Amino acid sequence: MEGSRAGIAPRRCDRNEDFGQTFALLERLPVDLESVRSEVERVIVSEADLQKRLQEIARTIESDYRDKDLLLIGVLKGAVMAMADLARYLNRHVEMDWMAVSSYGSGTKSSGVVRILKDLDKDITGRNVLIVEDIVDTGLTLDWMRTNLESRGAQSVEIFTVLRKPESAMVKVDVKYVGFDIPKDFVIGYGLDFNEKYRNLPFIGVLAKHMYE
Ligand code: IMP
Repeated sequence: MEGSRAGIAPRRCDRNEDFGQTFALLERLPVDLESVRSEVERVIVSEADLQKRLQEIARTIESDYRDKDLLLIGVLKGAVMAMADLARYLNRHVEMDWMAVSSYGSGTKSSGVVRILKDLDKDITGRNVLIVEDIVDTGLTLDWMRTNLESRGAQSVEIFTVLRKPESAMVKVDVKYVGFDIPKDFVIGYGLDFNEKYRNLPFIGVLAKHMYE
């Protein structure tokens, strides 16, 4: 990748976090601890690592957008946590808008069909847009989103994603800011769901296969 598109180097993350520590963290959540223990196969990004990485990326974004306006566009619902944390780590003014698109049904496989469920509130002509996404899996959603936002006359459109699954890519999407590269397992937590559950876990975990196979 060339020039400014290269962005900040992603982290490879496929390790098994310490379950003891993870479940200690879970104790303060309003979830049934025993059921989560059997539904989460392993933790691949801890809460601490997530927050540290977001802070690092926020510093890079501040420097890349110095003296420029910045409009964060969050992709509902998965990016809610990342948007809230990243925006607070950015030591500058930002505006926020949201889009909701659907590319998945209730299962774990991408359909490739993108539909706008909620469009932006404001015109983005001439704006510097940073899409805030939870995960790039096949890349189909973001590929479509970038083309869509560019066609509306944005000055620039870049992408931040918390996670990326390089082995699942079906299209090449130029993502400037990547939190972690992960294996192609189905993951949950920190905004990511399975049938609308687990979004409020503070870490990224791999969903146990018995939950969907
Ligand atoms: P893509 O179009 O295949 O890149 O998928 C993008 C969307 O699929 C994401 O924004 C997520 O909502 C969903 N998705 C992909 N992989 C996962 C996963 O492992 N867990 C939860 N949702 C996922």
